[in-house]
Amino acid sequence: MKTHLVFANLAGIETDLLIVAAADAQTAKGADAKPELVLLTSDATVKAAAATVLALGEFKAGANETLLIHTPAGLAAKRLLLVGVGKLAKATPHSIRAAVGTAIRFAKPRAIRAAAFALPNAAEFAAKSSARAAVEGAMLADYDPDTYRSDRKDLSVYDFTVVATADVDAAAVNLGYAEGVIVAESQNFARELVNEPGNKLTPTILGQRAAAIAAANGLKSEVYSTEKLHELKMGSFWAVSQGSEEPPALIVLTYEPEGYDPATYTGPVLGLVGKGITFDTGGISIKPSEKMELMKYDMGGSAAMLGAMAAIGRIKPKVKVISVVCSAENMPDGKAQKPGDVQTAMPFSADEPGKTIEVINTDAEGRMVLADGLTYARQLGCTHLIDAATLTGACVVALGPVSAGGFSNNDESYEKLIKALEISGEKIWRLPLGDEYLEQIKSDIADLKNTGGRWGGASTAAQFLQVFAGDTPWIHLDIAGMAWYEDTKPFIAKGPSGFGVRSILEWVRSYER
Ligand code: BES
Ligand code: MN
Ligand code: ZN
Repeated sequence: MKTHLVFANLAGIETDLLIVAAADAQTAKGADAKPELVLLTSDATVKAAAATVLALGEFKAGANETLLIHTPAGLAAKRLLLVGVGKLAKATPHSIRAAVGTAIRFAKPRAIRAAAFALPNAAEFAAKSSARAAVEGAMLADYDPDTYRSDRKDLSVYDFTVVATADVDAAAVNLGYAEGVIVAESQNFARELVNEPGNKLTPTILGQRAAAIAAANGLKSEVYSTEKLHELKMGSFWAVSQGSEEPPALIVLTYEPEGYDPATYTGPVLGLVGKGITFDTGGISIKPSEKMELMKYDMGGSAAMLGAMAAIGRIKPKVKVISVVCSAENMPDGKAQKPGDVQTAMPFSADEPGKTIEVINTDAEGRMVLADGLTYARQLGCTHLIDAATLTGACVVALGPVSAGGFSNNDESYEKLIKALEISGEKIWRLPLGDEYLEQIKSDIADLKNTGGRWGGASTAAQFLQVFAGDTPWIHLDIAGMAWYEDTKPFIAKGPSGFGVRSILEWVRSYER
């Protein structure tokens, strides 16, 4: 998809599909309540072209509801598509993202190759966030995980135009549009990684992809393997990778803001730590075969971080960011770790030796690679940490495919994440940490054990990570239920979601000074 931004009158836009958002502006309640449909444009020609069909009353402008009008009178466009955003009073930028996405998903299978979207003019929609949401919605919707399908490659909407009228704040629209393109490309990059099967994306290949995206976006990259893990004494990370023929990858991407000077920089250093299990068989505690193929998405946390880093390299916030990705394949093998094994995690310093971990279940591998990733990020000087991981089935049971789980030892940092969600439109629900959970993961023979028993699995996993975050402000995102959509939504394909890229990016930007 190629995207454009133009400032023009809607009537003259020559396109296969002109998309106009519509809302239900009804405010009255009870007996007086009747739907009050409004088109979110001031263009009289568009309103006239839609009037006859709208008078029939079948279109209610509900969220992602569509109405197609062929050869609309007075318009240069071949078709006019109305898309609902639901109640006007409840509309957010995400309503625009979803509405435009719905229109593109509508267009794709109908072989419509060019579409244009009328930026809403209503006061409820700020120019910048609407322009951003529109282009994001289109680009995210145009993506299909069809890399390995020879029959579907030609179904893209090649050309997408955001149309702003001349009376809008052009600077704001330009800025929002430019950001939206970057964010959507970065999120789609994350989705491509998540879609890759385990045989096509090994830790080594993930390292290569990370290095390439870093080079393309002005980031420094370092990709290490077995030797470095031993040098740093990452006994916990290595334990997971030791059962695979594929060597692990420790990936470090660094973004330095313009004018960065290590001698004088006093701002925060943000650490983005990602779980990058390219395939999780469970190891010796092997998983059942049902749906095991989906465990290729167990690197969704690292994809979110790499996607966010790609965007950071282009948006250039004034804050230093380091991403640490711990990538391994969790396999059963003659050399694999076993239940009962004791591993020693990376020491932070001479005063803070590595914690010992009794392995109860080799399928609880995510926390083991992240333990060393968090310690390493702290050692690299990170002052604030955020990690993302497809960590627990328990989190999916708790929140469903609706919300990721959020955990934090620091309310100030978590508040910034909540603010970020307003921009990203992603849903993350805070879940508890606490000493009671720490009790559950204390081992009789080592410092910790890697599982906490049946109850509170998302929290005991998070609590395990907190031990390694120490006192550093830290957020953990359990995205197990969000990294892969099992069902199609009207505005996005099923499969790899790229969840987290947008929220993590905005969280990072909230630290700009
Ligand atoms: N990668 C899985 C978690 C997961 C489950 C991700 C479902 C996506 C969808 C993780 O490594 C895992 O196996 N966790 C175990 C932990 C248990 C052994 C304590 C789980 O959740 O069952
Ligand atoms: Mn596992
Ligand atoms: Zn896993």
